[in-house]
Amino acid sequence: MGFSLGNLESIVKEKMASIKDSVHSFEHVKRVFKTATFLAKEENADVELVQIGALLHDVGWTVGKPHHETGAKLANEVLKEIKYPKERREKVTKIVLNHDLDFRDKLETLEERIVWDADKIDILGVLGVVRTFHWFGNAPFDLVVKRSFKELRAIYPLLNTETAKKIAKRRHEETLTLLSALERELSLEDLHIK
Ligand SMILES: [Fe+2]
Ligand SMILES: [Fe+2]
Repeated sequence: MGFSLGNLESIVKEKMASIKDSVHSFEHVKRVFKTATFLAKEENADVELVQIGALLHDVGWTVGKPHHETGAKLANEVLKEIKYPKERREKVTKIVLNHDLDFRDKLETLEERIVWDADKIDILGVLGVVRTFHWFGNAPFDLVVKRSFKELRAIYPLLNTETAKKIAKRRHEETLTLLSALERELSLEDLHIK
């Protein structure tokens, strides 16, 4: 099987079918792919590299932690198998390796920045809060709200590209509004209203 985006998508979809966690499912990958494609076009980046990086960015969850490292290795193997050129393979591998939230300062290329941004946009807004609650499973709601406030509030200012900042502004505001409302309701502040 040679390289085409369609082939790669089928391979990733099949691999990720085993992931039961809806936070990092293929559904998330498809959203990141679409957002990243939009950003790549707006920012005049290498669209193909961004699309391949987005498709493969979370494939490491099928292997184990740390998923950005296992994913980078697996991404290289998958692309080698479908005969994707070596020097571009290395660029994709770096996109996957550096997509982790904590690696923001390690980002070097525009394509790495775009996939990082697209992945982070998916943890903003109502969707982001829902994903975070799923991620923390049965943890007490007030603890998740506290942690989400700290972590999700910090993401928007870290976005790298102007386009990402523009399209995620509303989501950022919604994140804060939603978390404030949750905090209010959990504290039963309503009971004070007469
Ligand atoms: Fe990830
Ligand atoms: Fe992701």
